[in-house]
Amino acid sequence: MKTITFGIDYKEYSSIEEMDPQDQALVKEAIEALKGSYAPYSGFNVGAAVRLEDGTIVRGSNQENAAYPSGLCAERTAMFAANSNYPGKAMVSLAIVGGFNRQVSPTPCSPCGACRQVMAEYQTLGGKPLSVIMFGTEKAWKFDRVDDILPFIFDSFNDK
Ligand code: THU
Repeated sequence: MKTITFGIDYKEYSSIEEMDPQDQALVKEAIEALKGSYAPYSGFNVGAAVRLEDGTIVRGSNQENAAYPSGLCAERTAMFAANSNYPGKAMVSLAIVGGFNRQVSPTPCSPCGACRQVMAEYQTLGGKPLSVIMFGTEKAWKFDRVDDILPFIFDSFNDK
């Protein structure tokens, strides 16, 4: 038996201006996406934007439903739309913003476990690292690949 320790590197920003121009643009798309959020039950609005390898940006927002489990998170809305409309194009970056009353919160918006699992699948499918930006107006984080936010990913492709 041995004990193994591992760590991850990620970037922390204290304002959008500190980010790369491409990342700033993606965050702004996620903020735009927030306008389409339909969240009458939780009141928590989430916007996401995914950039494909050719620069195409696809937006998504959370969509709730009176039958609660029928709703969907912003990230999965964006990723499912991206792979539906642009199959075969790798997803290379995903930005997430959230907050109540369509206001972007000061702290980073962190994706749920189910969305992380879906990110992992599309990262594998695309064959390129998919970076994840969790944005807040006073603090934002960037992770270079999905593995960094979902260690020990379940990936059935691993067996192939
Ligand atoms: N939500 C997202 O859109 N993304 C996440 O990763 C976490 C949660 C949504 C689902 C629901 O509409 C609302 O936020 C409150 O949970």
